[in-house]
Amino acid sequence: MVEADSRINAIQGLIDELHQRYLSLEDGAPANYIPELAKADPRDFGIVIATVDGRLYQAGDAGKSFTIQSISKPFVYGLALKLLGPECMVAKVGVEPSGEAFNAISLDPTTGRPRNPMINAGAIATTAQIACRDPENAEATVLDFFAQLVGRRLGIDDAVFRSERATGHRNRSIGHLLRNFAIIETDPELSLDLYFRQCSIQVTCRDLAIMAATLACQGRNPFTGARPLSPDITRRVLALMASCGTYDFAGQWLHDVGMPAKSGVGGGILAVVPGRLGIAIYSPPLDSLGNSVRGIAVCNELSGRLGLSLFNQYPQSSSTVRRSYTAARRQSRRWRSPPDREALRASGQRIRVVHVQGILDFAALERLVAELAASLAEARVLVLDLAHVIELPAESAELLAQQLTLFQGRGLEILLSRSAHLDLEGVRLALGQEPETLFCPDLDQSIERAENLFLALWNGDPSGGASAHENAFSQGFLSQLNPTYRQRVAACLERRDFAAGETVIRRGDPGDELFLVHHGRFTATIQLQDGYGRPLESRLATFGPGMCFGEIAFLSGQRRTASVASDLEGGCLVLSRPDFDQLRRSDPEAMNELLLALICDVGQKLSLTSHQLTQMEHL
Ligand code: DON
Repeated sequence: MVEADSRINAIQGLIDELHQRYLSLEDGAPANYIPELAKADPRDFGIVIATVDGRLYQAGDAGKSFTIQSISKPFVYGLALKLLGPECMVAKVGVEPSGEAFNAISLDPTTGRPRNPMINAGAIATTAQIACRDPENAEATVLDFFAQLVGRRLGIDDAVFRSERATGHRNRSIGHLLRNFAIIETDPELSLDLYFRQCSIQVTCRDLAIMAATLACQGRNPFTGARPLSPDITRRVLALMASCGTYDFAGQWLHDVGMPAKSGVGGGILAVVPGRLGIAIYSPPLDSLGNSVRGIAVCNELSGRLGLSLFNQYPQSSSTVRRSYTAARRQSRRWRSPPDREALRASGQRIRVVHVQGILDFAALERLVAELAASLAEARVLVLDLAHVIELPAESAELLAQQLTLFQGRGLEILLSRSAHLDLEGVRLALGQEPETLFCPDLDQSIERAENLFLALWNGDPSGGASAHENAFSQGFLSQLNPTYRQRVAACLERRDFAAGETVIRRGDPGDELFLVHHGRFTATIQLQDGYGRPLESRLATFGPGMCFGEIAFLSGQRRTASVASDLEGGCLVLSRPDFDQLRRSDPEAMNELLLALICDVGQKLSLTSHQLTQMEHL
């Protein structure tokens, strides 16, 4: 854990400032109804903030040990939900604020059910369910669970445990009352013992901040990656912390601070900004309601100065749509014949490419759907690129599936690009598509597939129906020569066939052959590095019938800068260096025509490539 430096980090500077300022606040006194707690040093004072990205900001006694007391309650309630399920727990303890003190003997008069798991009655009822479920291992189960929440093993302060067990008469009466209403169904002493132990778990302010950050992270510990709680249980726990966590101070707390929180008579207080961060303060002097005086003051100021209140969240302004454009502005690196190129240029708006970003919660998804609906009027093919989507919550995945199904029902072909990091199985099943037709790991190939889909619709048959041999001569490179010279050049070409995946040109080889595609498809690739310095094989271009490749190294006499492989079963007409030299000597006219055609071809490729590059800057 890297410590922030207040000289270069304003957030650390603020924490240091608050610690300095409230150190002099000396109201309140440590709890004494549990004698051992009275020994706490009232000058102890720590502040820690832990973010969902796993960063810590800490000041003062961040690492000093004290007992967790009631702060254990929301977490043990989460554990009970995890072990026994909400249906079982709701029969034992309610979810309503009681408006009474934490130690009120407060049970629903008819059912005997405590109103919520944050007051002692509800907490004892909750702990009892875990104690009764597996008496032998209950304590170990609780400690293992806390270890996941914090990221380290925690112990129990035996002196505090004994002190509370010896003086916990009020809790004992609550326990027996719960037994009377069969909320506890066995000897209450067993449950009380476990409850006193859980309250005596030793933590530090740093531990509490990490626990709070775990709640902020939907139950996943951002420092270790462990997931002790599910998002649904975390939601339930946070809701109860917000409504009941500071007992009969809860209304004022939500009004002033506006964060789910939990206090403890050991002097700790923990607050959560869901999805953002956890806050913990430790200072033993308590107010009359049993909350840390310095803790309340610091949380008030942090909420006000940093705008942390749940009821003060700024409307999300960042657009979900990162980029949106049509194939008229960006084509794939698949070289197309002039007719296909013209079709794509003239009707490229029929292919829409949309790059999506961020966490696709409901608000973001709603914005995406609105922008898609507005931009798809003319589209026949949609490429949805999801590379920059950080998270797709399950609820949103379901809504996305429904929305894409609606688009599909209106005749839209859909391709999902770079989405392997997301769970889209539900979307795939809703669209009724095979993985290989719906998903594509590469954006450029997604756009190529969209082009192919569109050309198939546009031409009825993207191959155009002409035989490969006609394609090789009637369109593309050789078609630029007049028939006389074309035949004389063709006589120098050697037919060479390749299996699918076979290497035709290897990077670094001498450029002593020129290739004209007879049939099939050939892709040139280059070796790049990704953002992490890892080698990345990247497509440069794909060539179809009638197109030539390898001409630059061939004409310049340099070594190959790219590799080329045959995507399918394919064939090329090959001009070797000796035949090229022979043609130059024996038929200078044909040679001139050939060179002119090569210059035009290279110039056309250069012009298209620079057009694409310029376009890319403005997408
Ligand atoms: O049961 C008790 O009274 C203590 N073990 C815990 C009470 C507590 O922390 C109240 N929270 N402010």
